[in-house]
Amino acid sequence: MRTEQPKMIYLKDYQAPDYLIDETHLTFELFEDHSLVHAQLVMRRNPERGAGLPPLVLDGQQLELLSVNLADQALTAADYQLTDSHLTLQPDSATFTLDTTVKIHPETNTALEGLYKSGSMFCTQCEAEGFRKITYYLDRPDVMSTFTTTVIAEQHRYPILLSNGNPIASGPGEDGRHWATWEDPFKKPAYLFALVAGDLWCVEDTFITMTERTVALRIYVEPENIDKCQHAMTSLKKSMRWDEETYGREYDLDIFMIVAVNDFNMGAMENKGLNIFNSSAVLARAETATDAAHQRVEAIVAHEYFHNWSGNRVTCRDWFQLSLKEGFTVFRDSGFSADMNSATVKRIQDVAYLRTHQFAEDAGPMAHAVRPDSFIEISNFYTLTVYEKGSEVVGMIHTLLGAEGFRKGSDLYFERHDGQAVTCDDFIKAMEDANGADLTQFKRWYSQAGTPRLAVSESFDAAAKTYSLTFRQSCPETPDKVEKLPFVIPVELGLLDAKGEGIALRLAGEAAAGATSRVISVTEAEQTFTFVDIAEQPLPSLLRGFSAPVKLSFPYSRDQLMFLMQHDSDGFNRWDAGQQLSVQVLQELVGQYQQGQALHMDQRLIAALRSVLSDETLDQAMVAEMLSLPGEAYLTEISEVADVDAIHAAREYARKQLADNLHEELWLRYQANRELSKQTPYVAAAEHFARRALQNIALSYLMLSAKPEVLAATLDQFDTSDNMTERLTALAVLVNSPFEAEKAQALAVFADNFKDNPLVMDQWFSVQAGSPLPGGLERVKALMDHPAFTLKNPNKVRALIGAFAGQNLINFHAADGSGYRFLADLVIQLNGFNPQIASRQLAPLTRWRKYDSARQALMKAELERILASGELSSDVFEVVSKSLA
Ligand code: TRP
Ligand code: ZN
Repeated sequence: MRTEQPKMIYLKDYQAPDYLIDETHLTFELFEDHSLVHAQLVMRRNPERGAGLPPLVLDGQQLELLSVNLADQALTAADYQLTDSHLTLQPDSATFTLDTTVKIHPETNTALEGLYKSGSMFCTQCEAEGFRKITYYLDRPDVMSTFTTTVIAEQHRYPILLSNGNPIASGPGEDGRHWATWEDPFKKPAYLFALVAGDLWCVEDTFITMTERTVALRIYVEPENIDKCQHAMTSLKKSMRWDEETYGREYDLDIFMIVAVNDFNMGAMENKGLNIFNSSAVLARAETATDAAHQRVEAIVAHEYFHNWSGNRVTCRDWFQLSLKEGFTVFRDSGFSADMNSATVKRIQDVAYLRTHQFAEDAGPMAHAVRPDSFIEISNFYTLTVYEKGSEVVGMIHTLLGAEGFRKGSDLYFERHDGQAVTCDDFIKAMEDANGADLTQFKRWYSQAGTPRLAVSESFDAAAKTYSLTFRQSCPETPDKVEKLPFVIPVELGLLDAKGEGIALRLAGEAAAGATSRVISVTEAEQTFTFVDIAEQPLPSLLRGFSAPVKLSFPYSRDQLMFLMQHDSDGFNRWDAGQQLSVQVLQELVGQYQQGQALHMDQRLIAALRSVLSDETLDQAMVAEMLSLPGEAYLTEISEVADVDAIHAAREYARKQLADNLHEELWLRYQANRELSKQTPYVAAAEHFARRALQNIALSYLMLSAKPEVLAATLDQFDTSDNMTERLTALAVLVNSPFEAEKAQALAVFADNFKDNPLVMDQWFSVQAGSPLPGGLERVKALMDHPAFTLKNPNKVRALIGAFAGQNLINFHAADGSGYRFLADLVIQLNGFNPQIASRQLAPLTRWRKYDSARQALMKAELERILASGELSSDVFEVVSKSLA
């Protein structure tokens, strides 16, 4: 907890460090009731900062200082100043060593930052500013040092002792203790430091790099999970090969380790040579993890591995540059996932997520640029904007420069900046220099927050055979009040003739027609592009592949959208046409509901989805995506004022209409795919994911009929399937059904089967927390008393509280404010022991401006109650105070 008022930190105040650390030598003595950390820092004055020896100000929090030696002289309290966040002393020479010993308490560290215990294991999480809770240090990413780490612990409890780099020595100690020393030759900032001590087993493999070096690969887990590591290991090897082939990046150390821990604030962490993962991002096997979980493991293993170059070898100068490593690395892992699975489906899922959640963030009180220019607590800026929008921004550079130009740029970036801590501007500069390009205007994507709107209108001149598209861009004001100048918006587009064929495109002034799909750059507030030789009125297909993170509007009729759904050569846009059609139909139903009318749904949506469902040539994963109506959260995001009840009623009505009208088609596809599932052993690969996705969405529609044969099929799938994908869907379908006895029975059987598997129990909690049936809050409260639940474990909080507040909108937004009160109470509680998790759980309350005035008042009152509740962490303080500003 802070003792001073948290203060805002600004990018414009950045200054290079006064001192540098060349070598860091650490010794950890781990005990059950405390730990000791000895640090020897080989330091020097930063030559860039001129002559003179200013005071040395080290970061340190929650440390008990036992001794300080400067240049081998023991200091007394009179020789330094100590506050609860800094240790300040006066060097008398430009080079010196500093030795400190501190006492810390990992065994009571509930914030899961710094050195802490997860179960019986010691582990660390240092990004962004956790290293200062381990020892006094210059805890900033532009201070890069080599590290040697010795860990000493009881042999019996902690047979495995790990840190970054290569193991160089180990041996027995006194009193049943032992030690191991690790050396990391690559200079790195402290946020990439890691240490693990525990009773762990490992799965081992090797990887031969492009220059034929052999790298040892190890995944460490608690013994009971040793049978759930193979998928992560396979994913790791695929990632290593892909990064060599796609980016020319080779791994650098002789060993690469992953450790799975149960208590972890985020997904995983890219510590040099020793990645530490949330166990949910490592463990996967058919019986216990869904297809989605398998894909998540593959993506996160890749993401953290890719950081070895985009983040570790080339790191960030300061935390304002976070997207330099995160946006780029998300872009890299998305490319990997697209190559390993279906590229179109991956793009659809990423865009649906971005539009629902990042667009909402960008329109809310915490909106910030991809490179923010101020923050109170950096932990609050590991956001969808920095990660996902940051990835979109890198993707636009890829689109503008082409694959080859982009690769030249990334090669130059890695070569030029290897071993350095750099900025987003350095990244752009490398892209420019390698391509002779000018990205000056493009860089506004890094400094201007908010989602641009792009309104498009058309005009066709039959006599002149010209077709013009006029683009008008604008960007809403954001809390930072930064002026919004026009962005560079790459728009990939095509024009369809009456048969649905693409027309070869030729812009006025061009010598000849080219391809049927091309990218144009909209760079002005208003800009018109005229295509020539257009014989008949075409239908435009705009923003193919979602080529820019904008809200595009074009006045399509429903028939035109149906035409695009059938004929667009771009798979993403076929899906998006279906989404736009669904949005129009659902918004019409919302209007009917609000006016107290009987609901009547446009039958064209049913017809369109019937033809999708009946087309056996389509990728089944695409069919499943097309059958998924836009979610309530997305419908909320695109509403001026979101009517929670109307949105829910409209969407449920539409689902029931589709289920009734398409019953036969759904039943046929369900049965065919279920039959295949029975005959095929589980395989974690795209075509199998696709088959199960269609099978499962079909089942969830079918159950809306509550027919006995569907219940029987669901129970059979629940009882007899060999994999969690089918079993969990069957459970979810039962939980949301009216069959109370079968539901209770299935929940009990499932909990009994999986009571010893916390990750599976997370799924069990989530399925119930997400159920829109009445009484949601009472169910969630009752589940909090379940023996498998604990607020101390972030996965449990996310599974129950996060799923309720984030996905169960009809229950969370209950008109009496009970959901809001419940969440605020939890945030106040979580704030006391895990500020990062508390702050993240707050997100739904920050969206109060989206709702009717009664709900707005209730939500604001809860935010005010949190603000007044006592000593707030800087994490919660920043989000609450900005939300109320
Ligand atoms: N760098 C990590 C990633 O991209 C993010 C991360 C892991 C993190 N743990 C954290 C960020 C704790 C803040 C706090 O995957
Ligand atoms: Zn990352």
